[in-house]
Amino acid sequence: MNYRPLGRTGWKVSEISFGAWAIGGAWGDVSDEDALAALHQAIDSGVNFIDTADVYGDGRSERLIARLKKARKEEIVVATKAGRRLPRQTVEGYSRQNLTGWIDDSLRNLSADTLDLLQLHCPPTELYSRPEVFALLDDFVKVGKIRYYGVSVETIDEALKAIDFPGVQTVQIIFNCFRQRPAEIFLPRAKQKQVGILARVPLASGLLTGKLRRDSTFPADDHRNFNRHGEAFDVGETFSGVDYDAGLAAVEEIRGLVPAGVTMSQFALRWILMNDAVTCAIPGGKRPEQVADNCRASGLPPLTSETMLAVQRIYDQLIRSLVHHRW
Ligand SMILES: NC(=O)c1ccc[n+]([C@@H]2O[C@H](COP(=O)([O-])OP(=O)(O)OC[C@H]3O[C@@H](n4cnc5c(N)ncnc54)[C@H](OP(=O)(O)O)[C@@H]3O)[C@@H](O)[C@H]2O)c1
Repeated sequence: MNYRPLGRTGWKVSEISFGAWAIGGAWGDVSDEDALAALHQAIDSGVNFIDTADVYGDGRSERLIARLKKARKEEIVVATKAGRRLPRQTVEGYSRQNLTGWIDDSLRNLSADTLDLLQLHCPPTELYSRPEVFALLDDFVKVGKIRYYGVSVETIDEALKAIDFPGVQTVQIIFNCFRQRPAEIFLPRAKQKQVGILARVPLASGLLTGKLRRDSTFPADDHRNFNRHGEAFDVGETFSGVDYDAGLAAVEEIRGLVPAGVTMSQFALRWILMNDAVTCAIPGGKRPEQVADNCRASGLPPLTSETMLAVQRIYDQLIRSLVHHRW
């Protein structure tokens, strides 16, 4: 496993890290046993950074991570998120009182005295024009409730505004073979400002593993069933907002580029790591085999410029018109 500096924090984190949404909820049934086995595999594979949120399984994901941390002696940095407990997203909801309550809940769930990294969880766009919210976060750092803070964003515009706030240490954004726009302006600017970048949904919710088919089905409590058209939250979080059939067609094109002995998941993750503004990709994983597979991406040789160009062409021809202008 290779490690990269997380912005200005001083931490060096695994370039393949772990996204802990699926082990919390909204991805069908995952037993505690499988979830913990996946987490332990991550640490065995060299992962030292985990992304979670207070709402993933209503604290379940955080509590599982606390159990992992208790069982392991390695240093593990945990990034959590707050804001999605609001019944309706408003800037006013990001008040000192609400933030204090959410932070305290996460501290309890994680059995921690300080949160390593707190991310605002896709707050409303207007919040990025409201410095008073970032001043509140600075206060939480001062009193030691959180070590650092960052944001998880939906759009490039939000990401660009976020990094104008000097206290923002990290931005989490969707960046993968099906979401290439961050590479144009945002990632170079984030690199210039030494902001850590967490590339989320790196496998386009499983599409970029190459295992999904037209007739694949998903359980009722899996967002790939219930949020296919953005019914519950931003549609961009499910299959990266790419129409399912169009995504499958593009996956077939990408399949032809994957070298022998490499899985498509590894290829998709290696593509992300080619961008040196990215700190880490945070693939989700429900079982140890998936996690081990994903972590092997870090040891792969760089993709050739011909391969990078070919992925760009597939994006331009089959995906760009579906997503590029939206996020
Ligand atoms: N708003 C936000 O801030 C936000 C939103 C979304 C995600 N995130 C973060 O980003 C992380 C990653 O995104 P994601 O979990 O949505 O999507 P993802 O990483 O693109 O896809 C993860 C899913 O793909 C399947 N998978 C993973 N590795 C595999 C492998 N090697 N082989 C076959 N299948 C594999 C698993 O599901 P199946 O086995 O069921 O197919 C897994 O749950 C999340 O866990 C979360 O931490 C944050």
